[in-house]
Amino acid sequence: SSSSYIEYHGLLLPHISHSAESLEYAENFSVEDTDVFAVTYPKSGTVWMQEILPLVLNGGDLTPIKTIVNWDRVPWLETTRLAQIVDQLASPRGLVSHFPYNLMPPSFHTSKAKVIYVMRNPKDVFVSSYHFHQITSFVDDPGTFDEFMEKFLEGRVMNGKWTDHIKSWKRAELGDRILFITYEEMVQDLPASIKLMSDFLGNNLSEEVIQKIAEQCSFKTMKSNPMSNFSLVPKKYMDIEKAPFLRKGIAGDWKNHFNSEQLARFTSVLRKELEGENFSLPWSL
Ligand code: PPS
Repeated sequence: SSSSYIEYHGLLLPHISHSAESLEYAENFSVEDTDVFAVTYPKSGTVWMQEILPLVLNGGDLTPIKTIVNWDRVPWLETTRLAQIVDQLASPRGLVSHFPYNLMPPSFHTSKAKVIYVMRNPKDVFVSSYHFHQITSFVDDPGTFDEFMEKFLEGRVMNGKWTDHIKSWKRAELGDRILFITYEEMVQDLPASIKLMSDFLGNNLSEEVIQKIAEQCSFKTMKSNPMSNFSLVPKKYMDIEKAPFLRKGIAGDWKNHFNSEQLARFTSVLRKELEGENFSLPWSL
């Protein structure tokens, strides 16, 4: 069953944070030229971007990450929270979204707003999502690893198929309005990734400020930041004692979870779905 979700243009979205009103609000949202969207398929680095983006935009002032919870600091375009806190957003505004390209509001398309699209090895996305489904009550029970894999591959999970998300944004012709970056690059060299973002946004941060941001946005620092580690979410919704939301924060954890049959199954479905696409991906599938 899909009892935890509402359906929107064929996508399943958790009804704890999405409603007909919030989706209409997103559709009519008035995007500003200076807005910056960090767009992700779930479990690809969204909350990490909610930490990094405000600091890149404000030149390293730590106030937002120390005083504002992540979901209000860089809100999701599509969730109920946005309308409630939109007036409190610092300018330039940072937002996140799990929307595929085609669901972005009309005002996005006519604006000059920029997008940082963060993608992650889909096998690690899947593993992270599997754990997330075990600690949260507002998504469907994932079942076994194998059962959840079939759901994931068929897109019967929140925000649909990973491949559809990637395709929609890779096919979008946004020119210099979009920066593609990977979770793996960020894990490997966060200062270099922050420099890429800063240059993309035209902020030209100094080496010193970049280092400071990288330290503040490390996995370890974020894990101890109550504004970012979900410790303020009531346990009945998310039980971070069972397993933390900020779980491992590494690249390649799928190797500890997939057997060879699961790997073959996962890989063959994704390869087929991406056949004929004229973009390449940074991981071997
Ligand atoms: S969600 O639910 O869509 O918002 O999830 P999302 O934030 O996109 O993804 C959660 C995963 O991102 C990891 N994460 C980090 N990794 C490394 N460094 C930092 N600073 C960091 N912050 C978040 C988080 O641990 C989840 O991955 P896993 O593999 O489960 O650890």
